[in-house]
Amino acid sequence: MNVDLTVNLSSLKMRNPLMLASGVLGNTGAILRRVAEAGAGAVVTKSIGVKPKKGYLNPTIVEVDCGFINAMGLPNPGVSEFIEELKIAKKSGVPVIASVFGSTEKEYAEVAYRMEEAGADAIELNLSCPHAGGLIQFSQDPKRTFDVVRAVKSAVKIPVFAKLTAEVTSIVEIGKAAERAGVDGVTAINTLRGMVIDIEVARPILSNKFGGLSGRAIKPIAIRCVYELYRELSIPIIGVGGILDFRDVVEFMMAGASAVQIGSAIAIKDLNIFREITVDLKRFMEEKGYKCLKDIIGLAHEEG
Ligand code: SIN
Repeated sequence: MNVDLTVNLSSLKMRNPLMLASGVLGNTGAILRRVAEAGAGAVVTKSIGVKPKKGYLNPTIVEVDCGFINAMGLPNPGVSEFIEELKIAKKSGVPVIASVFGSTEKEYAEVAYRMEEAGADAIELNLSCPHAGGLIQFSQDPKRTFDVVRAVKSAVKIPVFAKLTAEVTSIVEIGKAAERAGVDGVTAINTLRGMVIDIEVARPILSNKFGGLSGRAIKPIAIRCVYELYRELSIPIIGVGGILDFRDVVEFMMAGASAVQIGSAIAIKDLNIFREITVDLKRFMEEKGYKCLKDIIGLAHEEG
């Protein structure tokens, strides 16, 4: 049987549902191309702002039992310099999604507009970094989420996705605000605020003290969020959090994700993870008789 792994996400056409998550290897055009060559269906850049930003001092990442905690501080060269990297990334032939952040909706809109001009295929709004620039507050307040999405949607024609935090009473309320403002999809979830303390020196390890927890530890929370969003929203959901193999991808899709992002697992398995998951996913679907991804998206919601 011929299994179809292609995904149409808003106007994006992906050869498979696997994206590189933002913040992981997405800071140069050459690396983004390498990830595409390794088999990713789309790539998301590191989050880019209006001006260059140095980020925090080291240590900025620490491995914990079931994942990583990072606090980079949104280091980036600023949009004017990054657009050259974006043009290089575009040569990969897969959709390039520009992750953008700002301190006001005007800044988000400005960066998004410049990324579109430089050839980005879509925008992902980082509304949810749990430790830098106060970004998380955007996706903890439905009005602020609405305002940023509305401003960016008025500035660009390409699809806009909003990356949400699970650190809210109701992620559905935030997702609905984004949907009302015209967002084309939501990404769930960003890392969760955490801390690690070195007991020898009795101090937090990260220079920023607090960081974002990613990896296996957050997968069940991400699955729950995707499930809840799928029940209430009519737009596509991109699932992210702790994916290590094809089973995780199937789980996210059965919860309601139309595509997924891979981040921390690259540090564990390297870039071969994209090919490995594609092959395993195809085999699984063949064995189960699923012809295309639509056959499994949201399947866990069926009764009986
Ligand atoms: C960082 O640059 O510190 C991480 C950004 C994020 O978690 O969104």
